[in-house]
Amino acid sequence: MALSPQWLDQLRTRVTLSSVIMRTTKLQRAGREWKACCPFHDEKTPSFTVNDQKGFYHCFGCGAHGDVIRWMTDQRGLTFMDAVKELAVTAGMEMPAPDPREAQKAKRRAGLHDAMGAAQEFFVRELAGPRGSAARDYLGKRGFSQATMREFGFGYAPDERQALPTALGTLPPQLLVEGGLRIAIDGKDPYDRFRDRLMLPIHDVRGRVIAFGGRILTAKDGAPKYLNSPETPLFDKGRTLYNIHRASPAARKSDRIVVVEGYMDVIALANAGIAEGVAPLGTALTENHIEELWRHVSCPILCFDGDAAGQRAVRRAIERALPLLKPGHSLKIAWLPAGLDPDDLIKKKGVAAFEQVLGSAQSLLEALWTLEMQAAPLDTPEAKAGLKARLMTHIEAIEEPDVRSLYRRDLLDKFSAFAFPRREKAPFQPRKQWRRDEPEPLSPELAKRLANLSQGGQRQRLLADVVGQLARFPDLVESHREALAELGEIDPATFSLFDPVLERAETLEADGKKAIFHERWGSRSAEQSVSGLPREAHDAATAREDLAEAIELLVEGPALEKALAAATERFEHDPEGAFAEQQRLLKRKLAFDARLGQMATRRIARATPIRDSKAAAVPGDNGEHSGTETDFQ
Ligand code: UTP
Ligand code: MN
Repeated sequence: MALSPQWLDQLRTRVTLSSVIMRTTKLQRAGREWKACCPFHDEKTPSFTVNDQKGFYHCFGCGAHGDVIRWMTDQRGLTFMDAVKELAVTAGMEMPAPDPREAQKAKRRAGLHDAMGAAQEFFVRELAGPRGSAARDYLGKRGFSQATMREFGFGYAPDERQALPTALGTLPPQLLVEGGLRIAIDGKDPYDRFRDRLMLPIHDVRGRVIAFGGRILTAKDGAPKYLNSPETPLFDKGRTLYNIHRASPAARKSDRIVVVEGYMDVIALANAGIAEGVAPLGTALTENHIEELWRHVSCPILCFDGDAAGQRAVRRAIERALPLLKPGHSLKIAWLPAGLDPDDLIKKKGVAAFEQVLGSAQSLLEALWTLEMQAAPLDTPEAKAGLKARLMTHIEAIEEPDVRSLYRRDLLDKFSAFAFPRREKAPFQPRKQWRRDEPEPLSPELAKRLANLSQGGQRQRLLADVVGQLARFPDLVESHREALAELGEIDPATFSLFDPVLERAETLEADGKKAIFHERWGSRSAEQSVSGLPREAHDAATAREDLAEAIELLVEGPALEKALAAATERFEHDPEGAFAEQQRLLKRKLAFDARLGQMATRRIARATPIRDSKAAAVPGDNGEHSGTETDFQ
């Protein structure tokens, strides 16, 4: 392995920071530290400090901050590698020898690119051939032009387990497995991952096929609507944005990129003449995605559904963006009407309606304010103070000092105008009546499994809570299907717990219960409008949000661990990027652990009234039938 984190740490401790800085900047002793006029900005009185014990420099004036490597890159203008080489000489350390495995890996990646290209050609051929007729019919109904379909490279994966090796016989079989096109579960014969699906190639920024997404054509039991390639040496979901290789040149002209939730939306946009659409691939927007977007435009527009899931996605994206904000870089938030994705909106109302949505996009600050105003009731002084505390937390998350102080000023102004209004302001109006529904009973068998699970660690307890809650309110399954599918992929062993829950949800759906569910929960933006909610509805909304967050946490935990492992692995060929990312991920892991801890104490099941107004009035009371008392205590 080349530059490991351990090796870099050793390098940092072997070099005295002040002696390196002294080569170009005059330092004065100040107690245990050193002081100087800051070399990064103009000043008369010294506010730049160097601490050799901590190995960091910091400027209280301009916020410049870093270790010895950062000094060499930022002040001396060296590349990361050159900086490390020069410091290694100072420290008398040998640069680690280049790893022969690295060359082999590069060769492998080239092989994978060939395999993905060949698979893409195969899928396109299949779509045009006799087996592709159902897929062609489906595409015909979606209303994309011939040009759009050709441009986006639609294909078809036949309903066969050995189609790829048969068609691509000259490729080493292992490549197809490594590229995520085939599944090899130990011992058994490998088989094609994508079967009877409409195929979409996913490209990297240079336009090479690195993965696929497959849409189901006929609904089948338990099969997800979209199946994406797994992570492979070519495909990193946390970095890849669908269509970025076309959006990027388009954005150079229009200075705009629109982030939507699904790939079909990206294609619908392109079909309507908007070439700058991109989408994450079945994951939330990550820091890496945001940084990537900023490489192309200064203010990408996130265009998400106005429903609760969309709001959650936006909140998450904003929380990830805050620490990264810097002068001239931000996000905009465009809210779609609840229940319509961009594809639907363009079909129903035309591209002008979509442009109008984009035109009325909120600034990040406005969106943050809107979300926080809607997050909880604000009808008591304590609740209002709570709003202020939440705003302050967001403000503190911003690392860049200028941006931070501007956010503080603006958000606190808004807060004052809201919390200390002029006297003649109209009173609040409750808006909506909530109906009471009985939770479904848990089977004794499931109750027992959950009780056992609750004896486990935080993750196990959370899992028990989620399963329990969904078992009681099976119609909620619908809105968490995607996340549950993801969870099943990540954690197949414990996922079997969800089987009875999913089955029950299917039955309900078949019985037409879904309609009731939609009627009541369909228009979330109205329900959530600031302070209009009666208290019990808020408890229900909170419990529902808790459930969503709990599921997110269950998915995010393993995903974070995986990303951390991947970042460590990447140290070999991209030590600089990998280091920065590792730091960021560790920070997120801290935040994650804190959220998990909070969630575990809150115990979502205790809040019970996911949609039950009466039970909500009795906090702490599960209010259910016998057989469940023990499972969440
Ligand atoms: P949607 O379910 O909103 O699909 O998923 P859509 O874009 O409206 O697609 P159509 O119009 O029904 O064909 C949005 C995105 O979420 C991911 C995919 O990346 C999809 O583009 N997704 C969704 C999955 O990864 N798996 C799923 O089962 C569903
Ligand atoms: Mn759609």
